[in-house]
Amino acid sequence: MRLFAAISLSPAVRHALLQTMEQLRGEAQRGRFTHGENLHLTLAFVGETERVDAARAALHRVEADRFPLTLDGSGQFGAIWWVGVKDNPALTNVAKQVQNQLRSAGFVLEDHPFVPHITLARRVMIKEPVPLNVPPISMTVEGISLMRSHRVKNRLVYTEIDRIELK
Ligand code: 2AM
Repeated sequence: MRLFAAISLSPAVRHALLQTMEQLRGEAQRGRFTHGENLHLTLAFVGETERVDAARAALHRVEADRFPLTLDGSGQFGAIWWVGVKDNPALTNVAKQVQNQLRSAGFVLEDHPFVPHITLARRVMIKEPVPLNVPPISMTVEGISLMRSHRVKNRLVYTEIDRIELK
């Protein structure tokens, strides 16, 4: 099973992201846009594994308080366009715990620095890159999700297979 740990987004945050996505869609010549229900912030990408229970147990060892998350700005990794979030030590701490717990449980994670982002579109072709309008919408992060990524009829589907509530 292909797994990742993520923060699920509130309806208000999703709504704001969809509006920003519409702006990008209007400016871009091409792109593969994220389906609204798939919008999320990845904490750690586990990849293909059969050790689902071990991943579940690792995430249940994370201990953190609920914290606020606010959309802030946008950026690109090559042709991937994303929306960022306001600098947030609580988020960094949760991501670090998630990654440390998964590594302690024997999962091998990629070793690049954590850049919190919500991907709006991939393979974007745009003539004149424009700054995206990102409203400073906030939510409270109340839990973290263990997600399964799979394809159904060639469509990418993310399913929450476990959820860990924060205090
Ligand atoms: P992305 O948003 O930057 O594309 C599920 O695939 C999630 O895991 C996506 O949010 C994706 O990030 C993230 N992810 C991180 N590393 C990945 C990898 N090597 N392959 C696929 N997805 C990865």
